Amino acid sequence: MKSITFNHQNTSAIGIGTWHIGEGNSDKTEAEMAAIKYGLDHGINVIDTAEMYGEGLSEKLVGNVIKDYHRDDLQLISKFYPYHATPKLIEESLKASLKRLQTDYLDLYLLHWRGDIPLEETVLGLEKMVQAGLIKNWGVSNFDLNDLQELTSIPDGKNCRINEDLYNIGSRGIEYSILPWQKKNHMSFIGYSPFGSDGSEYLKIEPILTAMANQKHVSVHQLLLAWVLRNHDLLSIPKTGSVEHMQSNLAAIDIKFTADELELLDLSYPEPKHNGDLDTI
Ligand SMILES: NC(=O)c1ccc[n+]([C@@H]2O[C@H](COP(=O)([O-])OP(=O)(O)OC[C@H]3O[C@@H](n4cnc5c(N)ncnc54)[C@H](OP(=O)(O)O)[C@@H]3O)[C@@H](O)[C@H]2O)c1
Repeated sequence: MKSITFNHQNTSAIGIGTWHIGEGNSDKTEAEMAAIKYGLDHGINVIDTAEMYGEGLSEKLVGNVIKDYHRDDLQLISKFYPYHATPKLIEESLKASLKRLQTDYLDLYLLHWRGDIPLEETVLGLEKMVQAGLIKNWGVSNFDLNDLQELTSIPDGKNCRINEDLYNIGSRGIEYSILPWQKKNHMSFIGYSPFGSDGSEYLKIEPILTAMANQKHVSVHQLLLAWVLRNHDLLSIPKTGSVEHMQSNLAAIDIKFTADELELLDLSYPEPKHNGDLDTI
């Protein structure tokens, strides 16, 4: 498995997204567990979840899978709600997540999106959890450049290890300033929803994608994931509840583009030329 440097460590080229996982009947749950196991058995070593996903159901399913793996081989990421972002509530949320995940630490704990609680309070709470050994590092999600700049200007704010934002071929805004800024500041980037989540609402499939996928004998989903992975400076975390799709996503890691192909895609999905509003899901 190709690896990238993420969170200052050698990490698989893709991680495992888990939104909406664990919410279905027993057949669906079994298929989702099999898909995650397949990914882990074939070299993926990062899982992204959140207390929000199924109000804990995703974390529970992940916990049931990872109990059979060496914990230290995995990077486990979870997130807390913005309204849990005080020191007291962070500790409570984290302990509940750890219980559902059947583990005693997280590799990364993220503020899911920015809310009304002052960042100073949140950072204080997160730093306490690092000192207590319950998390190795912490980060944020859905932060725009101005949020990141504000965060890193407060005490201990520079300890933020990662920011996780929407990134796919239809939402390229982060390429303009967030990604270069994070690189310069040694903060890892996770791009979520490489397929635009589970509907076309967030990503319009233009005819060029289908044509190019046919030409390269791959699926449109594989092309979309490979496009995100053309950039080696970030981690993408596709979600799938199917072994077949997990296989297809793993195979997408090896798909390459020529410069001409990338230029052709840019015509339908242009590079950002200025700072726009951050796209979120
Ligand atoms: N931080 C945040 O605010 C935030 C927001 C959104 C998402 N996320 C994270 O990012 C992860 C990924 O984003 P996402 O779940 O929104 O969407 P996504 O990964 O862009 O797309 C998931 C959809 O694609 C389908 N799919 C996956 N692989 C496929 C394949 N090879 N062929 C055909 N269909 C395929 C899945 O269906 P099947 O299950 O049937 O394969 C599912 O419907 C989430 O699960 C979550 O961990 C974070």
